[in-house]
Amino acid sequence: MEQELKKIPTHLAFIVDGNGRWAKKRGLIRSLGHKAGSDRLQKILKECFYTYNIPYVSAFCFSTENWNRPKEEVNYLFELFEKYLTKTFMRKFPGVRLNIIGDYTKLPENLAKSAKMAIEKTKNNTQYTFNLALNYGGQDEIVYAVNNIIAKGITKVDRQIIEDNLYTAHQPPIDFCIRTSGEQRISNFMLWQLAYSELYFPKVAFPAFSSKHLKTALLEYQSRDRRFGAIKE
Ligand code: IPE
Ligand code: MG
Repeated sequence: MEQELKKIPTHLAFIVDGNGRWAKKRGLIRSLGHKAGSDRLQKILKECFYTYNIPYVSAFCFSTENWNRPKEEVNYLFELFEKYLTKTFMRKFPGVRLNIIGDYTKLPENLAKSAKMAIEKTKNNTQYTFNLALNYGGQDEIVYAVNNIIAKGITKVDRQIIEDNLYTAHQPPIDFCIRTSGEQRISNFMLWQLAYSELYFPKVAFPAFSSKHLKTALLEYQSRDRRFGAIKE
């Protein structure tokens, strides 16, 4: 009998990984791996929101270190983000608020513009939120929060004040983080928000991460015993 899902994360995060290796294994250029990963991300996001009703989903799609890749690969990724995600966001993801985490103003002008437009047009959607990490680094985000706080003239901080000044202000922390392709690292992703997250590292590369893999991952989350540092009777 198929196992039932009774406990769903409120905030699910993906570290998208393995696009390049997936392509290479098939004798394809890396960019085709990114195209397949992008198609898959859209499909998985729809399932997260509309099938599983997960209110917050985050995805690490371009880090501050990814600029060090060949120019053609970086440009192709930007093209994908614009064409298949930001520009078409409203049509593809009704009811979802797009929140870009990271400094997207440093991205090519057309991508930054379509990101800004999608953010603006979806800002009143309250049912679901998608945090798209572009030009993102977790340590940089904490620095960004501290500078926000200083700019407001605040001289003493607590955890709440820091949280309120992150890119994810007023959102719940991450419950479950999935990194595909077998790599077992956080790679500077949402360091603050991952503090008590359950981590999951399936071997499958992101372009092959199917509906079935998602269900298996959610069942894995359900089986985890979260204690948040306390003990259970
Ligand atoms: C993840 O796949 C996609 C991005 C970082 C944009 P990779 O490009 O890291 O794929 P591998 O790790 O080289 O296989
Ligand atoms: Mg990688």
